[in-house]
Amino acid sequence: MEQIELKDVQGLIIRGYSGLRSAYFVLAKITDAGRFKIWLGHHVHEFTPGDIRPKSTAINIAFTFSGLKVMGLNQGNLGTFPLEFADGMTAPYKQAMLGDFGNSDPANWEWGQKADDNTHILLMLYAVDADSLNSLYTGLKEQMDTNGFTEWRLMDTTELIKRKEHFGFHDGIAQPTIKGLNRSDDDSNCVAAGEFILGYKNEYEQDNYSPMVDAGMDKANVLPASTQAPGMKDLGKNGTYLVFRQLEQDVEGFWKYMESKTLAPDGNCDTQQMIGLASKVVGRWPSGTPVVLAPEKDIPELDDKNKFEYRNSDSDGLKCPFAAHIRRTNPRDSIDTAKSTSIQIVKRHRVLRRGRSYGPPVATSMEPMDIINASDKSGKRGLHFICINTNLALQFEFIQNFWVNNPKFGGLYDERDPLIGNDSNPQETRRTGTFSVEEDLVRKRFTDVPEFVTVKGGAYFFLPGIKALTFLASI
Ligand code: HEM
Repeated sequence: MEQIELKDVQGLIIRGYSGLRSAYFVLAKITDAGRFKIWLGHHVHEFTPGDIRPKSTAINIAFTFSGLKVMGLNQGNLGTFPLEFADGMTAPYKQAMLGDFGNSDPANWEWGQKADDNTHILLMLYAVDADSLNSLYTGLKEQMDTNGFTEWRLMDTTELIKRKEHFGFHDGIAQPTIKGLNRSDDDSNCVAAGEFILGYKNEYEQDNYSPMVDAGMDKANVLPASTQAPGMKDLGKNGTYLVFRQLEQDVEGFWKYMESKTLAPDGNCDTQQMIGLASKVVGRWPSGTPVVLAPEKDIPELDDKNKFEYRNSDSDGLKCPFAAHIRRTNPRDSIDTAKSTSIQIVKRHRVLRRGRSYGPPVATSMEPMDIINASDKSGKRGLHFICINTNLALQFEFIQNFWVNNPKFGGLYDERDPLIGNDSNPQETRRTGTFSVEEDLVRKRFTDVPEFVTVKGGAYFFLPGIKALTFLASI
């Protein structure tokens, strides 16, 4: 098995730093590339690598395509980056692919509307508590303006109780296990390292196409030779691509919809039915227990919340609807082909999720009834969705296009992911969604599902290996 060069991989690929509960994401512009490169060269050793499990703080850094341009990569070398990265998240053809219409139209975003805006680098700061985070941040901030880079957007995060996201569901349970890390897991969930780190075999048993630079540019002689083209050095080795989407959540709208569709005959809220419907939307109960293992009611104490499949236990979607968020974003063994083929196909479209919530919780307990009954639901809140993949087109963009926003997914007729799907494509007349819950005789169809999630900004980043950072500092 391939040995992953953990020392050269930025730590966020290997772990989500869940013990480092406070985080800031800083978008910065490079104002003086010369100075910034000197600073980067001096501080490379401070970027947390994958071979250590940080106890108090961690910091990682990623570049947009325009950031790499500003760093001084020449046109030829920039041309070795895949088009989907170079074009960014907001090229016109991406709108249909990602489903960014209506309120989520890039024209309405707070940042990232244009690929060539001020976003050159993303600094991701993590710390064990708010005080340590603030001193890490202050230390960095003091160095910024005099060293050729300047912050233009600081994104705070919020740690919600019981690892929940704002709608009140336990998040961050299901992740693929990277092969080669000696972590034990079922084979169906172990995915080739090359799906997440450039320079290793992917699920096609091939090397990914990796960005390259002319060998002569590597004056510091830190990069490995390219295995793809003679005379070139491999800039991608041990790096990857990082997707950042700021997704605002309409928590009130979410629970109001669930309540309105499940009212008791006397017009009162039927808590059990309401939470049941919301759980069918997600595919998990608020505790994280998958509905496929507990279709009638939550079993919060279930030990392993990620050992399940759909094919044998729920081929008709009677337990977990085909449309549910988690069944769409990872259909596991349930794609309409042989079981092993389904697992094989799905492994080529997995991502590592590394997001963090932001904004104040509606109710600190994060219990659905407390959320519903909270008197003050004001404030902006959501998820800084972050995912990691080596092939944006086959992983993140594929999930958005073919699974999340595909109205015909899994034999369905006309519906998108009820949690995060977008129904505002101007070419279609319908502005709200439907959500089908399969039942024994006829499926129940919920209509007028509003959009609960709005994109507020986003960009694609290249998360280089540590040696590649040294190289970038040297050019
Ligand atoms: C505000 C937006 C979102 C919310 C509130 C949300 C919420 C959730 C929740 C509660 C889970 C179940 C916990 C778990 O399995 O770890 C989940 C799983 C997942 N979500 Fe999302 N999510 C959001 C956006 C996205 C986006 C944009 C993607 C797209 C690519 C995505 C992909 C996934 C995947 C791959 C899983 C794991 C499914 C599995 O392996 O079974 N999510 N999400």
